[in-house]
Parts: sequence; structure tokens; C-alpha cells
Amino acid sequence: MAIEDPFVLLFFLLLLISFFSTLIYCTSRVHCSCEICHAYVTSTWSIQFDNLCDWYTHLLQKSPTKTIHIHVLDNIITSNHESVEYMLKTRFENYPKGKPFSVILGDFLGRGIFNVDGDSWRFQRKMACLELGKLSMRSHAFEVVNNEIDHRLIPLVSSFSEKQREDLDLQDVFRRFSFDVICKFSFGFDPKCLDESLPVSDLAVSFDLASKLSAQRAMNPSPLVWKMKRMLNIGSEKRLKDSIKMVNMFAGEVIQQRNKLGSCSNHEDLLSRFMATTKDSKYLRDIVISFMLAGRDTVASALTGLFWLLAHHPRVVATIREEVDKVEALTSFDQIREHHYLQAVVFEGMRLFPPIQFNSKFCLQNDTFPDGTFVKKGTRVTYHSYAMGRMETIWGPDCSDFKPERWLKDGVFFQETPFKYPVFQAGYRMCLGKEMALVEMKSVVISLLRRFNIQLATPVQTPRFSPGLTATFTGGLQVRVSERRGKT
Ligand code: HEM
Repeated sequence: MAIEDPFVLLFFLLLLISFFSTLIYCTSRVHCSCEICHAYVTSTWSIQFDNLCDWYTHLLQKSPTKTIHIHVLDNIITSNHESVEYMLKTRFENYPKGKPFSVILGDFLGRGIFNVDGDSWRFQRKMACLELGKLSMRSHAFEVVNNEIDHRLIPLVSSFSEKQREDLDLQDVFRRFSFDVICKFSFGFDPKCLDESLPVSDLAVSFDLASKLSAQRAMNPSPLVWKMKRMLNIGSEKRLKDSIKMVNMFAGEVIQQRNKLGSCSNHEDLLSRFMATTKDSKYLRDIVISFMLAGRDTVASALTGLFWLLAHHPRVVATIREEVDKVEALTSFDQIREHHYLQAVVFEGMRLFPPIQFNSKFCLQNDTFPDGTFVKKGTRVTYHSYAMGRMETIWGPDCSDFKPERWLKDGVFFQETPFKYPVFQAGYRMCLGKEMALVEMKSVVISLLRRFNIQLATPVQTPRFSPGLTATFTGGLQVRVSERRGKT
């Protein structure tokens, strides 16, 4: 009997594909019945823990080497700072990002800095270093950030404080804020996401979706599943393709606008620096997207975690206010650096809520970590910043307390080695936007705490995180704000 109906044909084709992909998946997957792998595969870890990162933290705390191996994922996870230093510095060349990740994130990030190794990475890093390391970057960053605060953030939060009982989602506000800032700072383009009308931005929606669905690809135990869906352009892969198309269109427009300005503009920014070196529009687009990702979600995530902590620690809020009230108004980048307590608060917030909770590399050649763990060639190796922030061996018995004082020596901010605190990564690929991020975070904290009282609308014991490339609170951060008397 010949099947002629194209829909019936398609149905059988899909059935066949799913059968074979399941077969290949089952035969290629590492089988392991150890307690940890069993809990992972059956998701029984979720009976006791709200988030996967909390379960990993628990396992790492218990491990004598502070390193564990999830065999079914062929993933070694460490919170041992000597092993972190080993993979990020001592044997850096043996632990690149690797092909498996560049394939997973390739459709979204292309050849952008986050997704490449070797010469392409070195070139982009050098260019970005030149731009972000400039002395004038500091005043430019300060200006862009404080302009956005004065003209958008404060009026918006103020309008909510007048509405009294209406909740405001601070996470959403911070994402809009940091998106406007990174676009203005890096590309000279203003997407106006934090306008008082809180416009629904197709771009921001597509950007979030692309980031979330790309991250979900990595959670499939076998890449065959998403690759098959991508080939057939169905389900989550179709949505991913559509969202990437939208993000690409926007990035293309930003480049076009910059092109039009051409020599008329004497303003130097990150994009114009890259544009002077290449005419490859696809490559430029990848660069724009990587920087949007770098600067937007990370800062918003750090601020969300910090304001959640501040809402639970009024004493810390009072001490920040005491410190900032000593200064009339913020006028420069250097002035902001003098707030040692505030700097300690910001670092302490990211210790407990790092925006990038973990980061993975792939091992090129067989190796052994300083903690004795054997690492087989091809294994995925992850350092877990979230767990590291909760290690007694690093931070002492009060490691789960929010205690900014731990960063101060005689009132002066003192930084731990970045290998114990790899929130901005460490070693050769350390974050290039750290200074910029600190300016943003400190400026926002000062401006909001000076003027408003902020309370959680519905207090929750522990936040739940949604899947994505950066930590996101499920349900946002709903708060009630009121103006502080005499501070408007
Ligand atoms: C609180 C905010 C931030 C945090 C916690 C953070 C953290 C990180 C981390 C963990 C990495 C390593 C990522 C990886 O290799 O996969 C990284 C890389 C990077 N970050 Fe940030 N970041 C923040 C803000 C920013 C900002 C605002 C910018 C840009 C202005 C930026 C630019 C970069 C760049 C260019 C890299 C790539 C470095 C390389 O691969 O050599 N970051 N950041």
C-alpha cells in the first residue's frame, strides 16, 4: 500500500526519527547506577532541594576533595579553588570552551567572544581590552549609567511609589535598565526599554527566549534530540530560530546606524573599534550580541540577588545609607570607588548570588587536578561559583550569612583571590566588564536606597531560579516602594 498523504508521511517520518534518536541516545549514554546519578536521572534530588545548584552545593560541601563527577553527564564539577586555578590559569590551554559548547551556542552567539577559543578569542579580547581598559571609559560609563538612573530609573520607581499598593518587578526593571546601559555604552544606541510606559520590547523578549532555549539545549543528555528538532524546524528549535532571527535583525540595524554615522561621528565605542577592523557584517553582528549578553543579564541578575538580600538585612541598608550620606551627590567614577562598605556589600551579594552560577570547559588531554581527581580527555569540567560562595573551607562557618564586613580590613575593602571567588571568572579569560558592572551596581544601590524604602511584596525563604545562561529569579522580584521622607 502506498502512502500518499504528505501529513501521514511526515507523521511516520517523525516516528522513525524519534525511535532511532531514542535508540542512539540510550546506547550512547553513559549508564551509571551510583546514588548521585540515580538522583539526577530520576530528579529525586528535587524532593529535598529547590534548585539544582543547591543540590550540587550540598554534594560539593560533603565531598572530601570538593569535586564531584556526574557520570551520566560526563561532567566533573569542582568547588576546589586550587583545581579552579589549575583549569583557568596553570593548564589554561588544556581547558578550552570546546566544540560541544560552541555548537550548542553557535546559532545564537556565532563567533562572538563568549563562544570562541584560540586566535579569534585572542583578537576579540585584545580589542575589547583596549576599549574597556581606557581611562576615558570610566567617565563615559559613569555618565551613561547616571543619565539612565536620573532620567529613567528614578522617575519610574517614583511613579510606583505614588501608586502605593502596586507591586513593581525589580528584576524586570534591572533588566531593562542594564539593557539600555550596555547598548548606549557599547554601541551608542538607545533601545529605551526603561521608558516609564515599560514598553514590551520584541527585542528583549526574543533575546530572553534565545538565551533560555540555547541553555536548554545543553540540558539534553544527547545533542541528537535538539539537532533533529532543528533539522525539522519544530517545537523549541523553531522558536529558537525565530527569536535568533529577531535578535540578528536588531543587531544588523545597530551596525547599519553606526555605518550611517560613519566619519561624521567622532565618538569612539566598542562597536566602532571592531568596525574599523572588519567589514564582515555577520561577525560584527555576533560581537554585538555577545556584548549585549555580557552586559545585560549579568548586571541585572547581580542587582536582583542583592536587593533580595538587602530586603532581608535592614542593618546593612542603614550602614550603606550612613556611608553614602557623607557625600552630597555622586559626581565621578573615582568618588564611587571610595565607598568601601558599599563595595563590600556588592561583592558579598554576588558571593551568595553569582549571576553566572557555573561555567564549563572541556578537557583536551588526560589530566589530574591538584585535588587528585583524574580528568579524562573529552570530559566536561565545571567550576561552580554558586557552591564556592557557600563553602565553609573558603569562607568559614558563617559562610551562609550575608556579612559584608568579611570583605573589610580596618574599614578598607580587601579582595580575595579570584580563584576562591570566580564570580567574574579568573585567570586568562577573566571578565572584561568588571569595573563597568561595579559602577552600574553601586550607582543603582546608592540612588535607590537614598530615595526609597524597598520591601518585598511577598517574602520568600529561598529564591527559585529559572533555566538560562544567567541566574534569574522565577517570578521576578516583586517589591513595594515608598519615598523616604525628606529625601526626594
Ligand atoms: C555583575 C556583572 C558581571 C558578571 C558577574 C560577569 C561575569 C563574567 C564571567 C563569569 C565571564 C566568563 C564567561 C565565560 O567565559 O563563559 C565573563 C566574561 C566576560 N565579560 Fe563579564 N560579567 C559581568 C558584567 C560584564 C559587563 C558589564 C561587560 C561589558 C561591558 C562584560 C564583559 C565580558 C566579556 C567581554 C567577557 C569575555 C572575556 C573573555 O572570554 O575573554 N561583563 N564575565
